[in-house]
Amino acid sequence: MKSSISHLLLLSLIYFNGLVSKAQAIPRQRPFNNTIPALLIFGDSIVDPGNNDYVGTILKANFPPYGQDFANRAATGRFTNGRLPTDYIISYVGIKDYVPPYLNRSLSIDELMTGVSFASSGTGSDPLTPRLFNVVPLPKQLEHLQEYRKRIEDAIGKGNTNNLIKKSVFLISAGINDFVLNYFTAQFRRLNFSVSEYEKFVLQLFREFIQGLLSQGATKIAVVGLPPLGCLPFTITSKTIPLTGRQCVERINSVARDYNVLLQSELRPLQSTQPDKGTKIYYADFYGPLQDMIQNPQKYGFEEVSSGCCGTGLLETSFLCNPKTPVCPDASKYIFWDSIHPSDRAYYLVFQAFRPLIDFIIKDTVATN
Ligand SMILES: *[C@@H]1O[C@H](CO)[C@@H](O)[C@H](O)[C@H]1NC(C)=O
Ligand SMILES: *[C@@H]1O[C@H](CO)[C@@H](O)[C@H](O)[C@H]1NC(C)=O
Ligand SMILES: *[C@@H]1O[C@H](CO)[C@@H](O)[C@H](O)[C@H]1NC(C)=O
Repeated sequence: MKSSISHLLLLSLIYFNGLVSKAQAIPRQRPFNNTIPALLIFGDSIVDPGNNDYVGTILKANFPPYGQDFANRAATGRFTNGRLPTDYIISYVGIKDYVPPYLNRSLSIDELMTGVSFASSGTGSDPLTPRLFNVVPLPKQLEHLQEYRKRIEDAIGKGNTNNLIKKSVFLISAGINDFVLNYFTAQFRRLNFSVSEYEKFVLQLFREFIQGLLSQGATKIAVVGLPPLGCLPFTITSKTIPLTGRQCVERINSVARDYNVLLQSELRPLQSTQPDKGTKIYYADFYGPLQDMIQNPQKYGFEEVSSGCCGTGLLETSFLCNPKTPVCPDASKYIFWDSIHPSDRAYYLVFQAFRPLIDFIIKDTVATN
């Protein structure tokens, strides 16, 4: 009974067709001036600026009201009303205002060389996860990195390209969809894995992905942990009985916390066993800042913590949040823009919480250059 709503949603997502429109231009970059030459980004919708616009999937966000608070109100494919944390980061680092999606084939060499995102909304470490919606699997994102590298090599040569990769900061967000869409909603994996077995399974695959980045020359990798999955409006809707009040599902939050602990304990040995002793793997805590917003909304000026701004806020995401869906009058009062994704304002605050880590990475970079 309790998962019938999420099953229904998943089925409607899977069988729905269409609703695709063209995203608008991403504003031009600033002149390059920094110690970090580029950000190279991988993973899921938290950091996907619109790669799914170029993929045969129904999981898209390139139509209003997505992007209603973005420059020119452009619905670029970002799953929020404004900018992603990585847009705030690349702008803070002084590289450019927005991270473009790699799959836009019109990007110039300069745009490529200052950083792109390979991320694809709906993906995860478990190979079954990207198959649910036919999005870009993580190993395919690694192939795109190889192709990216060849394009840069053709322009600036192999030595310079190796140097660029070495100095770039890599950032990855993955795992949300493995747990939320796959394990707890589609539930096929529950036949074969207990939740703690599944955590280890996902982590093993994620580690292989990080190793793939390292073997392509990455030396600075920031890994974003899981947010409080039990507090996503979608989780609350599908895992609690209506009318009992919308509260975070503690059992699912504890899965996210367990996974984050395991993840951090994987990263340390991974870093120390690299032949290049300058290799750094950083952990970015996403759980803490979002949980603090949810527990202390008034501290940040939020008024709604358990429903998204788009539609009823209970289930809508992707094409269920579309030009016909009503939206809340002021998205900046909402932690969540849709039933899964934070609002622009929450993402800005997440970026603020990441700032000490970003400053630390910049300092590290200056020290090793
Ligand atoms: C793709 O990138 C080019 C070059 O930056 C830009 O002019 C174009 O608007 C982008 N396409 C989309 C759909 O954003
Ligand atoms: C970077 O830009 C700032 C101002 O925007 C300038 O003061 C600084 O000298 C520049 N640094 C380099 C290395 O060009
Ligand atoms: C579960 O395990 C069985 C037997 O090993 C296998 O046939 C099946 O494909 C697995 N299902 C999933 C979803 O992994």
